[in-house]
Amino acid sequence: MMSPTRLLRSPLFLLLSSAPLLMAASPDLTIADFEGDSFGDWKVSGDAFGKAPARGALPGQMPVDGFRDRGLANGFHGGDDAEGSLVSPEFKIERKFINFLIGGGKFPGETCIELKVDGKTVRSAMGRNEHPGGSERLEWESWDVSDLAGKNATLHIIDKRKGTWGHLTVDHLVQSDAPATVAIDKEFVVNQRYLIWPVSKGNGERRRFFGTLDGEDKPLFYSDIALSNNPDFWVFTDLANYQGRRIKITGKIPGNLAAAWEKVAISATYPGEEELYKEPLRPQYHFSSRRGWLNDPNGLVWKDGSWHLFYQHNPYNHGWDNMHWGHAISPDLFHWKEGPDALMPDPEGYMYSGSGFVVPKSKTSLPIKGSEALVLAYTSEGTHSYVPGLKATQSLAWSDDGGKTFQKYKGNPVLPHQVGGNRDPKVFWHEPSNHWVMPLYLDGDEYGLYTSKDLVKWDEASRYRIPTDAECPDFFELPVEGNAKESRWVAWGAQGKYMLGSFDGKDFKVESGPHQHYFGAAYAGQSYDNAPDKRRVHIGWMRDTGAGINGAPFNLQMTLPIDFTLRRIDGKLRLWSEPSAEVTKLRADTKEWKDFTISPGDADPLSDFKGGQFEIEAVIDAKSESSEMGFVIFGEAPAIWKKSDQNFSGAAGALQPMDGKLNVRIFVDTVSMEVFVNGTYVSRYIRQTPGIKPARIATGGGAVHFDSLKIHALKSVWK
Ligand code: FRU
Repeated sequence: MMSPTRLLRSPLFLLLSSAPLLMAASPDLTIADFEGDSFGDWKVSGDAFGKAPARGALPGQMPVDGFRDRGLANGFHGGDDAEGSLVSPEFKIERKFINFLIGGGKFPGETCIELKVDGKTVRSAMGRNEHPGGSERLEWESWDVSDLAGKNATLHIIDKRKGTWGHLTVDHLVQSDAPATVAIDKEFVVNQRYLIWPVSKGNGERRRFFGTLDGEDKPLFYSDIALSNNPDFWVFTDLANYQGRRIKITGKIPGNLAAAWEKVAISATYPGEEELYKEPLRPQYHFSSRRGWLNDPNGLVWKDGSWHLFYQHNPYNHGWDNMHWGHAISPDLFHWKEGPDALMPDPEGYMYSGSGFVVPKSKTSLPIKGSEALVLAYTSEGTHSYVPGLKATQSLAWSDDGGKTFQKYKGNPVLPHQVGGNRDPKVFWHEPSNHWVMPLYLDGDEYGLYTSKDLVKWDEASRYRIPTDAECPDFFELPVEGNAKESRWVAWGAQGKYMLGSFDGKDFKVESGPHQHYFGAAYAGQSYDNAPDKRRVHIGWMRDTGAGINGAPFNLQMTLPIDFTLRRIDGKLRLWSEPSAEVTKLRADTKEWKDFTISPGDADPLSDFKGGQFEIEAVIDAKSESSEMGFVIFGEAPAIWKKSDQNFSGAAGALQPMDGKLNVRIFVDTVSMEVFVNGTYVSRYIRQTPGIKPARIATGGGAVHFDSLKIHALKSVWK
């Protein structure tokens, strides 16, 4: 970026300034970008703006953002009380608009920028703050100067004010044929399911939009959306629950996005829907979102024969943002049908993680309609709200129609801010003490336990720690070896570490831990509290430290559903994971080999297998000659057990054979691989390489004996 002086003197400027006036869509002319080491030809008076552009916030100033690149004109040198001004060299008005970024105080004539022609002020603009609090963010402003075409003008950046918000910030002054922003305000009749948006991938250039239903004051949602004239893909607001209503969309967009905004429409389909679930990177038997980003599973609850899976969702782009609760329902934990988002960000802020549970009318003072309701407990992440000054608090929403539509409780929050980024309430009913319990993440490695008789009034009961873990508590009781007479409570954290102990309805007494259960990509999982047959079914999020599922209009997937049990292994109590039995229904074709030994150089029985969705099931003799035994997936992803450290690839710990055997199940689905060995669980994302065999046996260290080996092709759940 050039300094103002360099630009005004540059050949580029001379070239542009001799171009015909107000030609349609001529390139922008930069008046000043405040990127240089001085104000150049601008006249500096007083102290407020210092001697040169600032590089952000000045000592004592709140964080300043919204300016472009590195520098800006910042009137906070010497604090609010200092005064001063910046006056530009004279320039000719050659475009229809002057656009700029502005922030700071809102005091007419005192904290403002003025455009002067022939000594007269012809335009003026201010910051947006008058009272303590507020925001130092710079926002776009535009002046329509088409009536001043050809005139010579000067710009005056003025700070003549002392005290609260007695300063102004300005950046990126340009002449342009398009306004920097236009206010949009359009009402749509919701007579089809989707409101569709063309977007570019990435969160760089986002614009904030508000959606308000007819007759309501409070917006139904707000979101930052990267609207684009050249979309990478299309996203949608699923309005299935608002058919027959009207929705007004308001916001501000740059003038040059007018064409993209014209394409935002109500539609029965969205571009790309014909390819839905057939996209090359789409997991075929794991849950992934139709569109956008996915993280933590939320609100896992079973009701009337359906498994509900809610999840952290940004419906509008590839990365984490705009936290909604997505929602899908399945009869069997695999065939999911995705519906509209259940919770959307609104004045409460972002809708962070939490839980779902079925509530009889007698056990709550929430104004539910029928004899029971499906209730969601979630974090209202107020620091992300457009309402300033809010914090993270805990809130409730419920459904009177079995999970189709949800309403937020008018009395939210039900638990005020406790500490730090407190979040992720996992509420359950504790029958022996006849009250609700809310494990809540507090801060560091600390969690709190809160209790309530009615879900609305909560008391703190106690606190516990999961050393070295954080976030997303799960908290549940499991029988030891299936024996209901002996049980332990499991306090689980986002990284899959857990404490074992006892729980009396108020206090958690630790017996042992932390134990690490998960390894690899899985994170922030939780379990169903009310699954049939007393099953403890758990689903995690598979996060990716790499580029995610790059190139697709969706990002990331859930783990397989996993059944947890508690077993005694070498005298020690430990969680045990098995893939939920429903997965066997997906088997389409099975090849089986029994009791054989394979040595380096031998033909590999798996070498004929083709496909990207399969399960390997094997019992390997751990006393085989080889020092290493297992499999390699798509030529690069090892699932190999080493005798030396008894470590199975990716699992940061020893894994002992049981009765001398390794019981292995490996699930591969398009972009992911999950390995279950003797009750442990490891997962990772993989990249398939065309021409590379999906699976081979690893025999690097010598002969390996298999008691049995099967490979099952698995069916897509989307067909
Ligand atoms: C865990 C987490 C939660 C939070 C959510 C926000 O991945 O950080 O603690 O509620 O994600 O999306």
